[in-house]
Amino acid sequence: MFVKDKFLWGVASAAYQVEGGYQADGKGHSNWDIYTNDYQVTKAFIGKQHTGNVAINFYDRTQYLQDVALMKQLGVNAYRFSISWSRILPDGTGEVNSKGVDYYNQLIDDLLANEIEPIITNFHWDLPYKLQEKGGWGNLDSVQWYAEYANVLFTNYGDRVKKFITFNEPFIYLFFIEPLAHNAIAKKANPYAISNETYGKQAEAVHHLLLASATAIQNYHQLNLGGAIGITLSFTPTIPLNTNNAEDVQAARIFDGLHNRWFLDAMYQGEYPDNIMKLHQKYNPTFQVSAEDMQLIAANQPDFIGVNFYAPAYVKADDSAPYNAEWFSTNPDEIKMFNGPVRPEYLYKLLMWIKNEYSNPVIYITENGAGFGVADEQLNGDIVKDPLRTDYIKRHIDSALQAKRDGVDLRGYLLWSFCDNFEWLFGYDKRFGVVYVDFDSQRRIPKQSFYAYQQIIQEMPDG
Ligand code: BGC
Repeated sequence: MFVKDKFLWGVASAAYQVEGGYQADGKGHSNWDIYTNDYQVTKAFIGKQHTGNVAINFYDRTQYLQDVALMKQLGVNAYRFSISWSRILPDGTGEVNSKGVDYYNQLIDDLLANEIEPIITNFHWDLPYKLQEKGGWGNLDSVQWYAEYANVLFTNYGDRVKKFITFNEPFIYLFFIEPLAHNAIAKKANPYAISNETYGKQAEAVHHLLLASATAIQNYHQLNLGGAIGITLSFTPTIPLNTNNAEDVQAARIFDGLHNRWFLDAMYQGEYPDNIMKLHQKYNPTFQVSAEDMQLIAANQPDFIGVNFYAPAYVKADDSAPYNAEWFSTNPDEIKMFNGPVRPEYLYKLLMWIKNEYSNPVIYITENGAGFGVADEQLNGDIVKDPLRTDYIKRHIDSALQAKRDGVDLRGYLLWSFCDNFEWLFGYDKRFGVVYVDFDSQRRIPKQSFYAYQQIIQEMPDG
């Protein structure tokens, strides 16, 4: 048995990015099955049609047992993975698909047999398509759809799974990935152009999602299963592109409120940041939140915060960007990682900021990792050298552990990701794994970063 209070060293993944088996054993279609197969969304971004139909074949037990053995070799004691909602409830609500439930039961047992703690993310962006057709998170009924689904997970897995995560990165999902995917589906000339009105509309969806999270937390606590439930948020500390330019400074402030403060303020202070609320209401005058809603959110705080950190963002004022804050394409740093500049000191600052602003909550780093291009990884026979990722991981772990020494209640570090996998809009063209995957043969090769992470865990088992 694993020791519950041990510092968690782990790896993380998400169902759509790794499982494949997209029509296996009665699974219903998810939004991503449709985006990739019918709408070929990846084509708009990489010019190729990639899908998660097979992904890294993690639905196959023979395959995943080999991967779990490799996790054991790596030395991790935790694996964060997500559940595919449409495997469990093919229509999103109603009939439960027992074969889908069984798959995760077996995986949980196999992980525990290997002394690896399973950590479940209930929702990591793959919504049953039937629910998407009913308006998805824009529909207030989504709160009840989600509560029903989460209860199925709690009652089936809660005896052995002691950490649940309600949602993964609501901001990136609803304000970035979904609008971009929809722009691609609508064949917009520039799929990256998101309008102010889209942000205003998505504010409602994200509010529903927070209500769903609070409702599930409340239900989980009432079940008294003896575990903990949290939420994973993405954090992007902001740096004005030009600190002497008042407009850039203002744009950075807006983006900070939208991305970093919105959720924490609601959960820990019972209100949304006022400056962001005003912007949402400017572009969506019907967006209102009631005092009861805010009470529900604040009264059902998560037991821990899952922190996903990749990079800070340079922000510049740009009126073609939503809310005049351009953050995605602005990266003047020399070493370019796919998702931002490599600045580990910002992880330290972020963790200290959360501790000081929000009464020192329990924190797990639920994702941190590096997406460099294929060209940055030198595959030579059985050896994959990924010096940039290796350096990234070491320096970010240093920063995180420094914050822990300085009083942050950090209980674990889960690296994104174990294996290379399907990277949403970019399909298989972006690699994040410490294990290389040949997507044609499904062959795995541990990279240099795998051995570096292994050594860190061996040298500092307690973090
Ligand atoms: C997401 C992952 C994604 C990773 C790298 C995070 O935003 O949770 O699903 O693969 O970033 O882009």
